[in-house]
This record gives sequence, C-alpha cells and structure tokens, in this order.
Amino acid sequence: MRTNYLLYLLTIFVGLGVSCQKVEKINKNNREVIRLTDQWEFQYNDTLANQWEQVTVPHDWAISMPFDQEIDKQDVIVLEDGERVPKTRTGRTGALPHIGKGFYKKSLYFSKEDQQKKVFIQFDGAMSHAKVYLNKQFVGTWPYGYSSFEFDLTPFIQFNQDNLLEVHLENKSLSSRWYPGAGIYREVRIVKTNPVYVKNWGTFITTPQITASKGNVNIKTSVENKTAQAQNIELIQSIFFKNQRVSTSTKSFKLNKNNNDIEIDLEVENPQWWSIETPNLYKVVTEIAVGNEIVDIYESQFGFRTIEFTSDKGFFLNGKPLKFKGVCLHHDLGPLGAAHNLSAWKHRLLKMKEMGANAIRSTHNPSDPSLVQLADEMGFLFVAEAFDEWEIAKTENGYNTLWHDWAEKDLVALIHRDRNHPSLIMWSIGNEIREQNDPNGAKNAQFLTDIVHREDPTRPSTAGFNNFKGAIKNGLADAVDIPGWNYKPQKYEAFHKDHPEWKMYGSETASTVSSRGEYFFPAKEGKHKIRPNLHSNSFDMDFPNWAQTPDREFRAQEKSDFIMGEFVWTGYDYLGEPTPYNEQWPTKSSYFGIIDLAGIPKDRFYLYKSHWSEEKVLHLLPHWNWEEGQTVSVHCYTNYDKAELFLNGRSLGIKSKDASTLYDTYRLRWDNITYEAGELKVVALNEKGEVIAEEIKKTAGKPNAIRVEADRYEVTANGEEVVYATVSVVDQNGIICPKADHLMQFEVEGQGTIRAVGNGDPTSLESFVAPQRKAFNGKCMVILQSTKEEGKMTLKVTSKGLSSSELTINTSNSI
Ligand code: GAL
Repeated sequence: MRTNYLLYLLTIFVGLGVSCQKVEKINKNNREVIRLTDQWEFQYNDTLANQWEQVTVPHDWAISMPFDQEIDKQDVIVLEDGERVPKTRTGRTGALPHIGKGFYKKSLYFSKEDQQKKVFIQFDGAMSHAKVYLNKQFVGTWPYGYSSFEFDLTPFIQFNQDNLLEVHLENKSLSSRWYPGAGIYREVRIVKTNPVYVKNWGTFITTPQITASKGNVNIKTSVENKTAQAQNIELIQSIFFKNQRVSTSTKSFKLNKNNNDIEIDLEVENPQWWSIETPNLYKVVTEIAVGNEIVDIYESQFGFRTIEFTSDKGFFLNGKPLKFKGVCLHHDLGPLGAAHNLSAWKHRLLKMKEMGANAIRSTHNPSDPSLVQLADEMGFLFVAEAFDEWEIAKTENGYNTLWHDWAEKDLVALIHRDRNHPSLIMWSIGNEIREQNDPNGAKNAQFLTDIVHREDPTRPSTAGFNNFKGAIKNGLADAVDIPGWNYKPQKYEAFHKDHPEWKMYGSETASTVSSRGEYFFPAKEGKHKIRPNLHSNSFDMDFPNWAQTPDREFRAQEKSDFIMGEFVWTGYDYLGEPTPYNEQWPTKSSYFGIIDLAGIPKDRFYLYKSHWSEEKVLHLLPHWNWEEGQTVSVHCYTNYDKAELFLNGRSLGIKSKDASTLYDTYRLRWDNITYEAGELKVVALNEKGEVIAEEIKKTAGKPNAIRVEADRYEVTANGEEVVYATVSVVDQNGIICPKADHLMQFEVEGQGTIRAVGNGDPTSLESFVAPQRKAFNGKCMVILQSTKEEGKMTLKVTSKGLSSSELTINTSNSI
C-alpha cells in the first residue's frame, strides 16, 4: 500500500490551517489514518483448502450462508426466562454458521519513509478471539469480539516491501444468547504517527463548570515519547466550534520516555450547550510541537452539557427534567448481519428519532464506536454497556471464560474510547448477571464500579437487574451507582419506598412480542401465548412470562417522577432469541422489535410514537381484509383524546381516552365489531366535537401491482452507503394487500448493487443475499448499496402476475 502524503498533509493544512499558521511551525505531522476496507482475502474454517475468497471489511462471514437448525442448538436452562429444566433452543443464536474459524489475510506495503514512524493497527471489533500476525509473527490477541483494540505493528514490519497481515478468529458454540456475527465485522485501520504522538483514544475532556457565559474545559492528554531520550515539547490545545477556533492554549512540557499524562485547562465564552434538540459539538485539536516542528495533530470531540441523577425527581439534562424514552439495540443490522454499516445505523436512528425516542442502551456489549458518535450528532442519550455475563456462565463458552484476565481491560478499553461523548450518560457494567444470586456478586460489581470511577469520575455506573431480590440481598444493587430494573414496573414504588436514596430507571422494559401484520382476535393480553402459525399478535398485547405490554410501563413511568425513564426491549428485531418460539423451528429471529428485522415498522412504532412524540399520531389497526361477518377488534394508537369510528359510513361509536382502565389510557378501542368489507375510517375529534384528523383503512382487492419506495433518492457514491427500498404488493387502487406473499425478483442496473433483502418474518429461512424475497404480509425490503462510481442506480422489481415497478437513485460524491 502506498501512501499519498501530499494529499494527507494538504488535508491537515486545509482543515486546521488557522492554528498551524499562527504558531508558525513547520508541519511535520504525518499522522495518517488508512481504512483497510478492500482486498482482503477470507477463508472459512479450513486453511488447507486454500480457497481464499475476496472480501471487503466490515465482513460477516455467516450472514450469506444458509440457516440450519443444528447450528448452535442449545440444550439449556435459561434461568432468566424462569426455566427450571433444560429446553432445546434451535434459533437462539440465529441458526447461521457463525461458529468456527475465520482466516483473513491482506497485503500491506510499508515504504522506507515509514521506518521513521510508529505504525498501529486498530480494530473497532472482530468476532472473536482475534489473533493478529504480521509476516507470520504473532502481534497480539483480543478475545472479546465487541471490544475495540489496537496493536503496535512497528517491530514486525519489513519496510520497502509488502507485508502479510493475517487475522485469525474463532467463535465457539454455546458462547452467546443471540447472533454475535462472525468475522472482522467492524472497521480496521492503520495509523501511522511520528515517535512523539498522542495515544489513540488518549484524550479525556471534561467540562468541570459550565455557565451561560463560560465553559471550563479540562483536557487530559496521554502523550507517548518513543524516541530514545526525553523530549521538550509544546502542547497546543485548541477548541473549535463549527470550524472557528474559540479557545487555545500552548504550554511547554518535558516528556519522559514512554507515557506522559498532561493536563491543560481552557475556557470557552458563551458555550453552546449540547442537548437532544440542539446537539452542539466542539472539537479539540491537540498539536504537539518539538522545536519548530508540529509532529502530531490529534482530534477529539466533546460537548457542554450537565447531567444529574436524582432519587426523587428523576434525571436532569442541562438542569431540565428529562425522562428516558429509550430503546435497547443489539449490534446486528438484520439482513446485513453484524457487518457494521454507518449509513444503515443512521437510517435506524432516524427511525428511532421519528418515533420520539431520546435514548439508546447498547445492549449488551460495547457498540461500534460510530453509534455513540451518531448519538452525539443526532441528539440521543447513550448508555454504553460492557457485559452480559461476568464470572458465572449464562452460556458455557461465554464471557465467563474471559472474565478473570479480560474484564478490566475490556471495560477500560470501552471507557477510554467513548468517554468524551456528551451523549454518553452512564456506563452499564452488566446485564442480568448471574452474580445477582451469588454471595460474591457485590464484590465483582464493586470491582467494575471502581474501574468506572477511576477511569471516568464524571459518569455513574449502572447495571440491569432482573433478579431484584437477589441483587438487593447480596449488595449488588448497592454496588452500582444507579440500579436499573428489567421488567419491574409493578415494583418501582416499593423499591423507592424501601430505598428512597436510590436513583433508578427501567433498564429493560416491555419485551412485547409481535409479528408485523399478524392479528389475532379478540385483542387481549396474551401471556406467553404460543400460536400455531408461530406468530405473535400485532395488537401489541402478547408478552412472555416476565414481560409486559408497552401500556403497563407507560403507566408506571407516568405515575412516578423518581423513575428516570425506560429502555424498551427492543427498538429493532434482531437475529436470534425467537421468544416465545425458542423451541419451535424454523424461528430464528426476535419478535421483540418495534421495527421488524427488515426495517419495516410494526404497529407498535405508532403506539410509542403516540406516547413519546410531539407529532400527532392517528394509527388504525388491523388491516381491513377479513371474513365477512367475523368478529374483529379495532384499535387506534393516537395522541388525540377522542375519536369516532365509521364502517362504510355508519358510526361505530365515539371513544375517549379513559385512565380508569389501563388499555383505554393509551389507545382507543372498539371490540366486537362485525366485519364487513369496505372502508373503515377513524376521525379524531376536538373538545367541540369537530373533526381534526382522519385515517382510513380499505379492503384490498386482488393483488395487482408492485410499489417500491426508497428511504432516500440521493446517496454518496462511496461503495458503502445503503438505501432501504420498501416493496409492497397493491391492488388496482393502490391499497396494500395485507396477506400477499408473492416472490419478488430484484434487478439493479447502474451504479448500485443489492446488498441484502428481508421481509421481517421471524420464521423465514430465505437467504438475506439472494436477488429475490417473498413478501411477508404484503411487504418486503431490498437494501441497495452504492458503488464508488457516480451516476444512477435503478432497481426493478418483478413478480409473476403483478405489474412490475422500478425506482432510480442518484449516486454522487457531492452529497
Ligand atoms: C432480558 C434480557 C435480554 C433479552 C430479554 C428478552 O431478560 O436482558 O437480553 O433476553 O430479556 O425478554
């Protein structure tokens, strides 16, 4: 690989020209960051086969392979689900071949000039048990697949020639409770620096005091000196807001050999606060000068905001009360698998924003670093979670096998990587860890809480507890700063009464299960309801034994100011854990999502939106294609107080929100309606009885045509960005046919490819990468990806017996 220094130096000068000119130093900074995306070779399991496949990274080797019920079949007692005898769980980890060994190799060229440099390799995450080799020499290992890590390649490099980079990975069976993904599933980079440099993830920026007129900024910088002797340096710290330098400081230091921690305080006038609505971000540019040469430039980001957790009035952001309207998100991207894709995450968070969510909990592991960056930019609070398991196993080969040697390293790696992000408010050290029942539980929790306090004194530790009795009894709940409760809305008041000093929130809530477009009558609570077609009710009243409906959590949250909010399980469906059908093949993905695995919102999206968002919502369910004369239920998810329902013009009555029954508090319900085909209309009424909004469902006729709509029509031509195109089967009047399951064929022409397909059906075993997909309840999804060439991509969708449809997306470098 050859380096374009000129271009790089130019970029630095253009970006930071002001500060470099002012100090009148010669820019000898050649910190270079090179993403290693292309020209990787990969082989699954057998190195001797010598059948290397060309791949790009991020890469998930298992997502394109067939499902198989035998993969990672787990005969386990899941105590957390209340089980007492082992059950055979088939799709628990997604039934894709993520188990086994993955071998990656890539050629890296280092020039003669590189000999003067320090060269690092950084992984945002590799699944799992990564062992890195350069030129057949062992460089290092990092077993936890979710951690970001870095190794110094310098001693292993042969300069002025190609070097062989190899990464060996191994996933064991029985090591996860969901689909972990497989491979180098996040970004990898080479970073080259001069021998005096800012350590990667080596700044820690805090804002000890903020007022309307002034913000105090403390910057701790870890500077490495890998030269043979002590060095005198100047450290120039500058703070930028929207590319304007707003504060700067230059100080001289004598660097010892190796690591030096340097602290500088700065002030910013009239700081622009970071908040959910105004996510203002500042940039710190750290320059190191040796003599009259700038030898390193390192950028970090931070924001001005205050967070306060109280035991009686809940959480405060910038002095204002704010309830967490949060979602838990696993790390996979549905049809894309675990392979990280920035634009797919952006798409997801935009949907969460649209729903009114203001917080994310990255369950149950360190997320890709870009997720908390997006939270910073888009205005979400963020809870970074480190572990799902400590010393006591939930799965035989899970984190328990790493606990003793790695817990501290993994937690420190997470904190150092993410602690400058203003969106980040708590460090979650564990989820439902089995130590809740163990006499040593508090000791292990205290060990992790102490690490949090040592590495980041500005944020509390937290954990999610399901076994509250155990965690309270053995002192574990006391050993975290903020106990989070999983599925305990009925207990919030009692916890508060018994422990008025505790600051608390619902770390995991609801776990309502539903399949998009599947309705079962009458609409009523279905506790651990197993239905013959392996689907759950889209009336959002089905839930497993330990869980609840959204409504029940809403009520508990509204009742008590002291409870800081909730994190719904989950924002999106994920691969694995097909509760309540864990034993019933062919299920292999979750039913918990507010949005299905393919990215299509379920009805529940509108229930949360009606409760969380400021926007007006009037959403009618179910669809209107039933048996003539059948008794059906009709619900309306709305934030209007009153509405009238009409069937073919006849009023079926006015309903008002009524807090005396749980389900009438958050929905409007008409049960026992006798179905007749035609038009079902709901009209929202104001206090005077005037119509202020309406929503109509019509009976669909015979499937006639295909409709395809994209989430956007302009994307960057970078070979990475994805577009979500929703495909629907419609009748001749454009009404969606709610039970259509036609096989759709996809073809792309021009500057795009089909990256993945899906339909959100948890029982579907169709490939995520084939250029075809059956519709599930009238819809499916095609995820297109741009190429590196500018131009247009045209998607054509065809299906036997339906008129085809197409759409065109512009791809350009100026977006
Ligand atoms: C919780 C657990 C989650 C998920 C969820 C399903 O107990 O923390 O990871 O398993 O239950 O309801």
